[in-house]
Amino acid sequence: MQNNTIHNGSASDGSEETSDLTAPPAARLGRRSFMKRISLGGAALLPVGGFLSARNFSRASGLSGGLTDGDAAILRFLAAIEILESDLWQQYNELALGNESFQLALNVLDGDQATYVNLNTRDEFSHAAFINKYLQAKGQRPVNLEPFRNLPSSQATGSNKSARRLTNLMHLTVDTSFYFRYRSALNPDFGATFPQILDLVNVPGIPNSDLPPPDDPANGFMIQFIANVAGFHFASIEQGGASLYQSFLPKATSPEVIKIVGAIGGTEIQHYQTWTDKAGNAPALTDNNGNVIFPQLPAAPDLPNPPDGTDNAAANDTNQIFATPCEFIARNLPLCSVIRPISTQQGGAVATIAFFKKDGLFIGQSQAFLDFLNELAAEADAASRESD
Ligand SMILES: [Fe+2]
Ligand SMILES: [Fe+2]
Repeated sequence: MQNNTIHNGSASDGSEETSDLTAPPAARLGRRSFMKRISLGGAALLPVGGFLSARNFSRASGLSGGLTDGDAAILRFLAAIEILESDLWQQYNELALGNESFQLALNVLDGDQATYVNLNTRDEFSHAAFINKYLQAKGQRPVNLEPFRNLPSSQATGSNKSARRLTNLMHLTVDTSFYFRYRSALNPDFGATFPQILDLVNVPGIPNSDLPPPDDPANGFMIQFIANVAGFHFASIEQGGASLYQSFLPKATSPEVIKIVGAIGGTEIQHYQTWTDKAGNAPALTDNNGNVIFPQLPAAPDLPNPPDGTDNAAANDTNQIFATPCEFIARNLPLCSVIRPISTQQGGAVATIAFFKKDGLFIGQSQAFLDFLNELAAEADAASRESD
């Protein structure tokens, strides 16, 4: 990664090339054609009742390969979540690839951070497109959130400024409690709660205007703060996805739907694992008055370790990125390294919509949008495995 180069990787195929900022915007960012290629369904939005009749028909008519009501509800909710993820990651991607200051600041966390944003974006679009096409292949209507695409875009260089969005990245209140949760032997599914590692309240994850680069001696902290917020937001969102997919696994009926939930869910875990590592590299920041605006994270002491066979890192240090063994299934069983939470109450569909809302992603969205998502969520949470 060269410092002054913008990575121009299309999220559609993950291919990468580099170009400088003098290239015309259309040459740098193939967003329009990309969006066209993965267009997420053209069906008019239907109330959940419309979906219900479609599902009952597919079962009653005995179509081979038809889905149970529960499997269809799980997949519909996952389609909606993947469309939302695609929307928020697309906003990150446009600026990670097309805004030099933001890219440089992201890459302070990892030299490949902007590229990873591009790859995560590609993955989410693939999830949304696959699940919706699978629903259609099984005689179900795809999920379409296009009527709710009402929120404005960032006006910074790189952003598709006139595009309408589903999610809002300008007023994030990032839940950073995953940091302690995944470093604890306690499990939220057994009632444990965890504090925030840092307070990120009503802060932007993307710049709304052009800002000086992070090495600017006067105001470089501004874009770096936004990139630090983004770094924690990436991990926070993807751990939510990891929990959500796990919550559905015991509820899916058909082996194929179990395969889909398990295999896509696995990539959400990959995403979280990468981002939780990178978040730990977010640098401490002070503003022009010397006020701490982003704290020093608890980094492990420098190597070498003491010569007694121990590791000198403490339990909450930034390098403790693997899931600490915790309570699982029953307290009288041994602690186990697992995804947590996975319960419907803590990590299921309704909990995920509440989590996104608290995150600030839906600021400016309509009540009809929230009602629609919550209806899909309630149906998905109510799914249960059916026996033959
Ligand atoms: Fe996804
Ligand atoms: Fe994801």
